[in-house]
Amino acid sequence: MGLIVRQKEPTNLETPFDQVDSYLTPTTLFYIRSHFTAPTLDVASYQLRIDGAVRNPLSLSYKEIREIPSETRVALLECAGNSRAFLVPQAAGVQWGLGAVGNAEWTGVPLGALLERAGLEEDACEIVLEGADQGIPKEEPVPPGPISYARSVPRNKALQREVLIAYHMNGRDLPQDHGYPVRAIVPGHYGMASVKWLTGIHAVREPFHGYWQTSDYGYWDRLDGKPVRRALGEIKVKSEIARPSVHETLAPNQVYTISGAAWAGETEVTEIAVSTDGGHTWAEAQFLDPVQRHAWRRWTLDWLTPNTPGRYTLLARATDANGRIQPDEHDPNYGSYAINHLLPINVFVDDSASRSR
Ligand code: MTE
Repeated sequence: MGLIVRQKEPTNLETPFDQVDSYLTPTTLFYIRSHFTAPTLDVASYQLRIDGAVRNPLSLSYKEIREIPSETRVALLECAGNSRAFLVPQAAGVQWGLGAVGNAEWTGVPLGALLERAGLEEDACEIVLEGADQGIPKEEPVPPGPISYARSVPRNKALQREVLIAYHMNGRDLPQDHGYPVRAIVPGHYGMASVKWLTGIHAVREPFHGYWQTSDYGYWDRLDGKPVRRALGEIKVKSEIARPSVHETLAPNQVYTISGAAWAGETEVTEIAVSTDGGHTWAEAQFLDPVQRHAWRRWTLDWLTPNTPGRYTLLARATDANGRIQPDEHDPNYGSYAINHLLPINVFVDDSASRSR
């Protein structure tokens, strides 16, 4: 048991998705996605600066943050590059399988409460969240010198109650790799929005065009028919099969419980269809978890495996409350991000699986 190493330095570790069966992903199994070496911050000297388009710029110590009334909520984080390994042809970047996703409980202060204290100006359109980590990204176009990890959240989203400046993950202090001592949690948005090692909150009057939302973590939209570059935001509806895992061998003529999890950005998943024959026929899976906005819902389906040995392709397709359904193919406008098309899990049905039991 343990995380799958995708990159040692900076630390990029994947959750073994077939081993996760709890609603909350244990912290020790929660994926880690970092662009630079994790900074070491000392709580005694830690300061969170809130400035820019605010009437009263302020700086809060860790202790002061802890004294503000807190909220605890469950939210899923999915890296925008999750499932990249399923892209054909192969795309450059960390080769995440199914496990750059996790569901955890976060405790912290609503970002809106901090912005209210600072007196957010009416004309501030975005809130830039900045981390203490720095470096020179490798992907072109390479910036002229070291940059920090910084990302903006649209004003409307930043003021929603669910956006937290968090210090606890699953009831304990954040581990260093998850942003100790303080990070942002932006539920419903891909993981890149949830800035770790948060030290700066800057309200801006012009849209922010930083590296991490233009060169990286962007996609092509259309404006009057013309392609325009936009920052990735809301998570797309998606389901993943946890068990069986890719290339697992199953016994013939046995009931096997296929299990997985599904999620959607700002809305809820309402239906899961599962196919065990590459998409020819579909059956409805049962949810294990109730609806909870911004969290995942686990699901299962009992499958009587066929008598005929061979290779079978399993698929799971989620539908959300807005009627959005996972597509058959990846949308190329998203490059190697937002991978929510049907992910084939090929398994083998073979007698050897019964014998080895
Ligand atoms: N924040 C900082 N400061 N630096 C980073 O590299 N990575 C982002 C986000 N916040 C990152 C960051 C990305 S791409 C993701 S998917 C999530 O953190 C991952 O959070 P986790 O490592 O706690 O799972």
